[in-house]
Amino acid sequence: MTATTSTHHWNGILSSALEAVGNTPLIALDRLRDSEGVNCRLLAKVEFFSAGGSVKDRIAKRMVERAEADGRLIPGHSVIIEPTSGNTGIGLALVSALKGYRCIIVMPEKMSREKEATIRSLGAEVVRTPTEAGWDSEESHIGVAKKLRDAIPGGIILDQYANENNPLAHYHGTYQEIKHSIETSDLQCKRITALVAGAGTGGTITGLSKALRDDQAKESSSKSGANGADGQDADEAKAVVVAVDPVGSLLGGGQVGPYQVEGIGYDFVPEVLDPNKPNIDCWIKTTDDEAFAMAHKVIRTEGLLIGGSSGAALAGALKFLHDTPAGRAIATNEDANVVVILPDGIRNYISKEWFLDGALRAPTSNLAQEIAHILRRDISPASAVKQNGTNHVNGNSHSVAHEHNGIVHVDQIKTREGEPSGESERGVEVTTS
Ligand SMILES: Cc1ncc(COP(=O)(O)O)c(C=O)c1O
Repeated sequence: MTATTSTHHWNGILSSALEAVGNTPLIALDRLRDSEGVNCRLLAKVEFFSAGGSVKDRIAKRMVERAEADGRLIPGHSVIIEPTSGNTGIGLALVSALKGYRCIIVMPEKMSREKEATIRSLGAEVVRTPTEAGWDSEESHIGVAKKLRDAIPGGIILDQYANENNPLAHYHGTYQEIKHSIETSDLQCKRITALVAGAGTGGTITGLSKALRDDQAKESSSKSGANGADGQDADEAKAVVVAVDPVGSLLGGGQVGPYQVEGIGYDFVPEVLDPNKPNIDCWIKTTDDEAFAMAHKVIRTEGLLIGGSSGAALAGALKFLHDTPAGRAIATNEDANVVVILPDGIRNYISKEWFLDGALRAPTSNLAQEIAHILRRDISPASAVKQNGTNHVNGNSHSVAHEHNGIVHVDQIKTREGEPSGESERGVEVTTS
């Protein structure tokens, strides 16, 4: 049983969307746990609930606020420029929209159109760069951002790869929220046994790992002080920090190569990431197929609309639990709490083939066959696309096509100004082959 006795709610009225950054829920993935045959709890920190839809809202807000406090960012003068895989871009565009900064986001081609559209809708500019460009080349997202910064008066790169406020946002924010959620739950054991996160800049895993280590060290020193113990118990209780890295990234070892999952993995080690112990105990590599299959599974079984790197984090967590000695010991322990960070949501990836393949091109279910039998027509997504594809809105009248017994009927729908719908006239009938 993992239900919480209290959930976090905002009090009063928030002054802007900036106050709705973070404060995300910790959700027990009991269905996934049962289907994967592990006994430990899987607790997901679900970051798409944040205002801009990802974990990176937190660092965008903190990096801007700290730079303003230092006098490095000046409203009305500074132009925020950032190389990113997109989510930091959405966060910075959101903060810029609210605070009145001009903002330019530089991101590789492979990142989704949804992210670009979101950033543009927030009023920022987007520059695309070749995905295959090495991080230190002039054409890379980092190289182009530097060129723009040097040429644009007031241009400033807050630099998530090196900015201490990236890990600090998680040290002071994300970790404290996880701790609060667990402490206010009805769990018998309120310790974090393992923490799993994907690494991009590494800010998330580094900030969380440091906060967890500091917290557990404080806890065990106060215990050993009280009992006169020698610290052995403390060592046994030490949490395991697991970083997840896509095949094709060098952060967790291996060859650099192409992969589709967005936001995690790099061809260099960013300054904010310490890839070694005691920061990170173990690296797990995941493939695109594993990440995307897991994202679909969690959407379907847990109702959580997560993105690809969240799928990778969970696939990596389960590989750790199934395939490593330390993981197997945790997997069999009902009291163990495995916290997994899920960085963003599927709405960033709706147009990606890997999502559409699972959502629109999955095999027909028995229920769909039953519906088709009752309605005497094909209701598969492909047929819906075909039918909807003929729909078009024209002024205050539009046509709607539907198929019945091999005949396509095109109805003219008239809509009067200010009214949601109008009378329907039977229009053209076309026999399909
Ligand atoms: C979708 C997604 N997942 C994971 C991460 C990794 O987070 P971090 O940069 O803190 O390592 C990012 C970072 O951009 C991301 O956009």
